[in-house]
Amino acid sequence: MKLWQGRFSTPLSADADAFNESLSFDKKLYKADITASIAHATMLAECGIISQEDGVNIREGLAAILADIEKGDLVIEGQEDIHSFVENELVSRIGDAGKRLHTARSRNDQVATDFRLYTRASARQMVTILKDLVATLTDIAAKNVKHIMPGYTHLRKAQPINCAQYFNAYAEMFLRDANRFVDALKRIDVMPLGSGALAGTSYPIDRTITQNLLGFAEMSQNSLDAVSDRDFVAEYLFACSLVMAHLSRLCEDTILYSSTEFGFWEMPDAYSTGSSIMPQKKNPDISELVRGKTGRVYGHLMAILTTIKGVPLAYNKDLQEDKEGLFDAEKTVKDCLVVYTAMLKEIKLNVKRMEIAAAEDFTAATDVADYLAKRGVPFRTAHGVVGKIVRYCLEKGKTLETMSLAEYKEHSEVFDEDVLKVVKATSSANSRNSVGGSSMAAAKAGIKSLRSRLKKLPTYEE
Ligand code: ARG
Repeated sequence: MKLWQGRFSTPLSADADAFNESLSFDKKLYKADITASIAHATMLAECGIISQEDGVNIREGLAAILADIEKGDLVIEGQEDIHSFVENELVSRIGDAGKRLHTARSRNDQVATDFRLYTRASARQMVTILKDLVATLTDIAAKNVKHIMPGYTHLRKAQPINCAQYFNAYAEMFLRDANRFVDALKRIDVMPLGSGALAGTSYPIDRTITQNLLGFAEMSQNSLDAVSDRDFVAEYLFACSLVMAHLSRLCEDTILYSSTEFGFWEMPDAYSTGSSIMPQKKNPDISELVRGKTGRVYGHLMAILTTIKGVPLAYNKDLQEDKEGLFDAEKTVKDCLVVYTAMLKEIKLNVKRMEIAAAEDFTAATDVADYLAKRGVPFRTAHGVVGKIVRYCLEKGKTLETMSLAEYKEHSEVFDEDVLKVVKATSSANSRNSVGGSSMAAAKAGIKSLRSRLKKLPTYEE
């Protein structure tokens, strides 16, 4: 039976019913729904709106329903949505007391409350999972602080960098992501319960009781806004989208660096796949799939933004569309983060190959220009001189390291013996000692800073 059947002469037609229902997906909210209803019933009894006895019966009935669902003894089916399911089940178990649960409440403030409880728990889990990834990346960085690799711009070798600096860069991104969820939680963690259908309630409710029972940091301050606000869903999905953007970039690097053309990383066999026809293939499917899944998470963000833009105050059924995207994004992002973190722990770095590559292709050219500039040659002039040196090397089949001092001097009198040290890839990386730069010291400081900021993130129990 529908919760609202009284006003209608005929039941909802089967096709409309199937179209309208949300139980097939909002059953995920069962725990949040029961938790919020227990708090609501407790408040109703404490405020004398229902009797203490009804309050106890409702609470015990709801707790038993929760236990039965979790044991697998009660299958969630046959109703319009999770709210109808729980309420009908309660009424069938405890009778009239169950029919009093919905006093001073509407499904509109109920669903908003349930979904915020769910999203809060999910965002907290995201922070925990992201912390593990950041810790993993800083561990890899710490292990490789003595190694160098080429740094790229335009996917062309640019300057030698410390390996740790590279992994620190991704750790920075995922640390920002963790902080973005923490920040979004300030706006997720607000209780709409007590807003009624749209305009509040005439019953003498005490919203601080439910707020405290449900552990909400704040309560909403406008009932019209509270029942129709889904900004928190958009924010959650935006935070998810940036996680995917960062993961997708890491995937791209992983795919390139593990190719034979680069040969920088060796992917673990346990996280690689083969080809049904080409026996030699070792494919980076995990990275490709994570990169590919980025699109669907972005899609969910666009969907909610588009859904909420046309919703007049206050609640409209459009808002039922808020859930499936969030559930799918949640699963997608968590799965991607977990599998990627596990895979990263087993990636082997071919440090020799990276070191050789770091020195190839004139990566120390900027250092040679800086060498001249530091000795009084205007930087633009120095840039031109080194450009000519590179051309000379290309013609003669030389590198900046195999050029003799005499050859350097032919290009500028300013060059001295010490230029031959400057052009070494390791000295080049280590010379960029500015905060956050590519030197070993800066990379070590980067790890320390990341770890201390990681510690400052909150720890959540649920
Ligand atoms: N299934 C609905 C949703 O997800 C629950 C709220 C229904 N409220 C209403 N007035 N029909 O939004």
